[in-house]
Amino acid sequence: MVSFSTYSVRNNLPTRTFIVFLLGIAVGSNFSLIFHQTKIILDLLRTDHSNKQDTPAESRHPMMVLTKDSSKANAMIPVFSSLESKAESSKTFTKRKKGEEKNSLLLATNVSTDSKIAKQSSENECQLTKSQHQMSLQMANFSSHPGSPSFQKMLRILQQSRYYKICPDFPVFDDNIRNYARMLEGYGLRPAPSNETLLDPSITLHLTRVSIKLPICHTMDCNNIPRILTQSEQMSGVGMGFLNELEECQNSPLCIILEFSDFNYQLMTQRSLKDSVMLLPIMHQARLGDAKEEQIVPMKQRSIDVVFYGYMQSSRRKQIWSQLNTTKIHFLFSTDYSLSEMAQTYSNSKICLIVHSHTQSALETHRLSEMSRFGCIPLIETVFDTLQLEYYQECGDVTFADFDSLVNTSMEMLSKIQRTPSRVLAEQMRKRIQWWRSGIIWEALLNEIFAGYPKTGYPQNTTKDKKQ
Ligand SMILES: *[C@@H]1O[C@H](CO)[C@@H](O)[C@H](O)[C@H]1NC(C)=O
Ligand SMILES: *[C@@H]1O[C@H](CO)[C@@H](O)[C@H](O)[C@H]1NC(C)=O
Ligand SMILES: *[C@@H]1O[C@H](CO)[C@@H](O)[C@H](O)[C@H]1NC(C)=O
Ligand SMILES: *[C@@H]1O[C@H](CO)[C@@H](O)[C@H](O)[C@H]1NC(C)=O
Ligand SMILES: *[C@@H]1O[C@H](CO)[C@@H](O)[C@H](O)[C@H]1NC(C)=O
Ligand SMILES: *[C@@H]1O[C@H](CO)[C@@H](O)[C@H](O)[C@H]1NC(C)=O
Repeated sequence: MVSFSTYSVRNNLPTRTFIVFLLGIAVGSNFSLIFHQTKIILDLLRTDHSNKQDTPAESRHPMMVLTKDSSKANAMIPVFSSLESKAESSKTFTKRKKGEEKNSLLLATNVSTDSKIAKQSSENECQLTKSQHQMSLQMANFSSHPGSPSFQKMLRILQQSRYYKICPDFPVFDDNIRNYARMLEGYGLRPAPSNETLLDPSITLHLTRVSIKLPICHTMDCNNIPRILTQSEQMSGVGMGFLNELEECQNSPLCIILEFSDFNYQLMTQRSLKDSVMLLPIMHQARLGDAKEEQIVPMKQRSIDVVFYGYMQSSRRKQIWSQLNTTKIHFLFSTDYSLSEMAQTYSNSKICLIVHSHTQSALETHRLSEMSRFGCIPLIETVFDTLQLEYYQECGDVTFADFDSLVNTSMEMLSKIQRTPSRVLAEQMRKRIQWWRSGIIWEALLNEIFAGYPKTGYPQNTTKDKKQ
């Protein structure tokens, strides 16, 4: 019943191989847990390799030990090197507010006026021209306007395909996978029947994350099989390890890469890959669902000032902590990744923070889209993306700040919250949540992008297919 597996990261990462032992995970019902935890581990392994000098070697190689108790998704205890403070190896790192709640937000200086809290576009605009769905269409048009090589390539792939098959992935991507299925079914593709021996492989569109090799490619020449690779990596870091896969896709007439970040897109353009890349917000998701009524806690009643989930390079973590130590911010650095706990924590936090694992980074929309539904105000370290950031700011209440000023910006935002009447905060929260919830109409996406183009050379329905 007990499985033991070793996960090693690609050999073009720094010499020391990261090895993660997944211990004591029972097979069967707990199978999904392995994947869930492996993804978390991958998050944790995303350290900044370009910046080795400032980080002691061992602290860049956290070893993850999974406890035997796999009944909880949070049964993972990170064991950092001895250089990490003891507190940081405990399950949850929290910096409690010192002193009275009332005094906790006093600032040394006057707070600058801005912070996007109050800056709201008209609600109408956010629901119409600046909706996430419209953003998706604009994104696709940016990389793949009608007639462009990537537009034509994607169209050819869709026209060739009648069925689709999505490669199993980590459970953290469950919601993304549901979205991809909605997108392809909305266009008219149907799930491949389980008995694939009946099917001509050339009419089944295979979708997989770029980091996962398709099983079918082990046995067949993949060049003739329609494929979509979803590129979910940070191309400035670990993602560069997948250049072979990306180039192979570029060389295949039936392979397209879906990319979530225009920063990554620029890097891929420099590698002459752009004719096979279509931008789409494939990392948007809602793994934690929408906030229930009781989870929409009024801003001033939220007990956590700032919450952070994710991995931060240890030198960055130390800098943040030493700045935090000079404040009275109640900060929670949580590694309890159980979904219910995450939802609860976000709904009890005023600000939800995203700090990049390493310096150059695309917008982490997978976290942003899931946390913002709980009403906390997103504060994000400056990103290298350039497209549509103003929509996120205006409609999604996102504040961007450089790494060095994240703590100061948190203080400004908290002070602003303190000074703003609850009624106004509630209205802002309502609009924000509404925007984040409205999301993307995945079913409509491909039909709108390829409107006016013939769908497929294959009949859409046959008697045999109706049985599926
Ligand atoms: C601080 O803000 C208050 C009210 O906005 C203003 O009256 C005061 O002049 C400001 N002080 C400084 C030093 O800017
Ligand atoms: C799509 O992109 C083209 C070329 O970049 C541009 O001219 C056009 O205005 C865009 N269309 C929309 C609807 O954004
Ligand atoms: C798939 O279909 C073929 C032909 O009908 C059949 O012989 C085979 O047993 C089926 N395989 C599975 C796994 O169902
Ligand atoms: C922050 O303060 C705590 C105690 O108040 C101390 O143990 C810790 O080392 C400090 N951390 C940093 C990074 O300064
Ligand atoms: C943060 O604010 C403090 C107090 O106003 C100031 O001394 C410090 O220089 C600021 N730090 C940054 C990085 O802006
Ligand atoms: C295809 O089948 C679906 C579901 O059975 C049906 O709703 C649709 O109208 C059919 N389309 C065509 C073109 O026959």
